[in-house]
Amino acid sequence: DQIEKGGYDHFMLKEIHEQPKAITDTFRGRMLHEEKIIKMSSIENHLDKFLNANRIIIVACGTSWHAGLVGEYLFEDMARIPVEVEYASEFRYRNPIITNKDVVIAISQSGETADTLAAIKLAKSKGAFVYGVCNVVGSSIARETHSGAYTHAGPEIGVASTKAFTTQITVLTLIAMKLGEANGSLAKHTFENYISKMQLIPRQVEELLKIDDKVKEIAEVYKDAKNCLYLGRGFNFPVALEGALKLKEISYIHAEGYPAAEMKHGPIALIDENMPIFVIATNRGHYEKVVSNIQEIKSRAGKIIAIVTEGDTTVKEIADHVIEIPDTEEALTPLLTTIPFQLLSYHIAVMLGKNVDQPRNLAKSVTVE
Ligand code: AGP
Repeated sequence: DQIEKGGYDHFMLKEIHEQPKAITDTFRGRMLHEEKIIKMSSIENHLDKFLNANRIIIVACGTSWHAGLVGEYLFEDMARIPVEVEYASEFRYRNPIITNKDVVIAISQSGETADTLAAIKLAKSKGAFVYGVCNVVGSSIARETHSGAYTHAGPEIGVASTKAFTTQITVLTLIAMKLGEANGSLAKHTFENYISKMQLIPRQVEELLKIDDKVKEIAEVYKDAKNCLYLGRGFNFPVALEGALKLKEISYIHAEGYPAAEMKHGPIALIDENMPIFVIATNRGHYEKVVSNIQEIKSRAGKIIAIVTEGDTTVKEIADHVIEIPDTEEALTPLLTTIPFQLLSYHIAVMLGKNVDQPRNLAKSVTVE
């Protein structure tokens, strides 16, 4: 067991630290940095399906659904293709409208999630083209889909998904870039700039992992909280949802993720001095708006832990704690902003003495309804 954990105390921590390599493996053979091209035969062979699609419907569960939500922002921003993201469990039972002009992307780490598999079967029966993004090679979902891409994250043992999430986002980013380039939505220089910035991500994640001690200090301060809020906007709204899910899953602390601007429509009523609020405030994504959300929280005595871009000065003055991430394009920030949240939930769960790798009531892969 110790050997399998590679010297780490838990699989989850090992898997968090494997992310620079996992993302690099996801790039391999697909993103050719020197040539500035993206080669994905699974997309190229079916390019007409994607480019002529009425819309893309993404189906998934849990963390994979959160990756799908990032995918929606990426696809619409980079390739201008309409996207809907559906919980597989809802999609399969709500008599959805699916035609042979729809492309369905199913995302699943295990490739065995029953609801996602059933959603795929339904979409296929209605004539849709179904593309899979899976981690486990040869899994049921990989076999059931018309085409697809593996994430190449390597085995993920911890029930709380970490490297599967970042590699799913990596694959979705590559697809969005590829489609945006193919249909002319992404100008050549923008596409090439994304490639250069993507190439830096594994090293930036590596750098970010060094903040572990700082995250541990923050975990120590907030480990006894009963409720937490996670806020983000744009590309980082799904990261807020994922941050909250990670905390719930392994520390059993109630946490909610919200789009930052929705706070004033309800959750703001919860804020008092006992409420830690984790806010993603990267410098290019609606920064001023998020800063004003942070001010609203502060004036209600909420405790603010902010994730900011390195060199930030404004948020630093207001927040109780800040965690800096390296600079990148806003569309790529989810690959970085998610890392501190993974570490934070890990440390809180360890401090509370919880079973990090196998939290109560949860299975790694939900193969029943
Ligand atoms: C993630 O931390 C969870 N354990 C869970 O939400 C998971 O992402 C979900 O069950 C979907 O699993 P899949 O990716 O294997 O389909």
